[in-house]
Amino acid sequence: MHPSRLLTGIKPSGTPHVGNLIGAIRPGLTLTAQREEPAYYFVADYHALTVIQDPGEMTRLIREVAASWLAFGLDPEKDVFYRQSAVPETFELAWVFACVCGKGLMNRAHAYKAAVAENEAKGGSDPDAGISMGLFSYPVLMAADILVVAGTEVPVGQDQKQHVEIARDIAVRFNATFGEGILPIPTPIIGEDTGVLPGIDGRKMSKSYGNVIPLFAPEDQLRKVVYRIKTDSSAPGEPKNPDETLLFQIYRHFGTAEQTAEMRKEYENGIGWKDAKDALFDVLNAALAEPRRRYDELMQDPATLDGILDAGAERARAITKPLLAEVRRAVGI
Ligand code: ADP
Ligand code: TRP
Repeated sequence: MHPSRLLTGIKPSGTPHVGNLIGAIRPGLTLTAQREEPAYYFVADYHALTVIQDPGEMTRLIREVAASWLAFGLDPEKDVFYRQSAVPETFELAWVFACVCGKGLMNRAHAYKAAVAENEAKGGSDPDAGISMGLFSYPVLMAADILVVAGTEVPVGQDQKQHVEIARDIAVRFNATFGEGILPIPTPIIGEDTGVLPGIDGRKMSKSYGNVIPLFAPEDQLRKVVYRIKTDSSAPGEPKNPDETLLFQIYRHFGTAEQTAEMRKEYENGIGWKDAKDALFDVLNAALAEPRRRYDELMQDPATLDGILDAGAERARAITKPLLAEVRRAVGI
């Protein structure tokens, strides 16, 4: 029997924004806080290499993403927080998995199929144009991330569920070939849907749309972004439906239950847009001020940040080294 072990990867693919906080960081930290055993969290830097191929940007994003999770309270003394690339057993295991994973399984992976569909829609002659082997075999590396620390529970968003199911298939196949019980069979944990947070233009908040509220912008910049949030032309005094209002949809994630109920009434009573924006800025700034201070501290001290991640990698390797030794023995190498 393998002990229960929670693990998840965070791809350093963009500067974290308020949508990432609501959809990923907060639910992740809430889940780990409920458990006594350490959870395994890692920055999936080699996964990001499928898209980020500028070295300066890669180094910056790894630090930004790691500092964000720490700033919002990930406790590296309790939980094991590391960089994927600092655990070399991952990549050895990925090769072993590539040798037991049918190519057809990869052909059916959503991310690869979506890339092929996009090429076909463009009408080009090569359906695989621009698709690297890294993108194609992404799920194999993800299976190695999970199984190299014998992860059993993997919190992910709906879009990553299939990848965890592929990791299951690979673990089952490996055990059937080389020895039952060597690897655990991991299961995805799909958190309750936190919903999609809209950005300042009303579409999903996403770095690809340039409509984000950054998590760590200085106060004056944060205020400016809040002032740019789209509203309609209704005048002060005119009742407004809070559920159809961008400002309120963001507000409710940051105000207390009481503040949110109060604000709901203010909308119904016709709060003016300027006051509504000031109120949103106040709750946002109150929630972000302390994390911003911790984030700035960490970003100004990369040696400490790297030290935290290196210490996490050492703890992870206490598991990955013996696990790889067993895998090697099992395959006869
Ligand atoms: P982006 O859309 O900016 O590229 P990512 O795809 O890198 O963000 O998302 C990283 C994590 O943040 C994922 O778990 C995703 O579900 C969550 N996330 C991103 N944007 C939002 C949003 N607008 N609302 C809720 N969760 C989000
Ligand atoms: N693929 C995940 C994403 O895009 C990140 C990730 C990499 C991951 N390895 C993982 C998630 C292992 C869970 C387990 O968000």
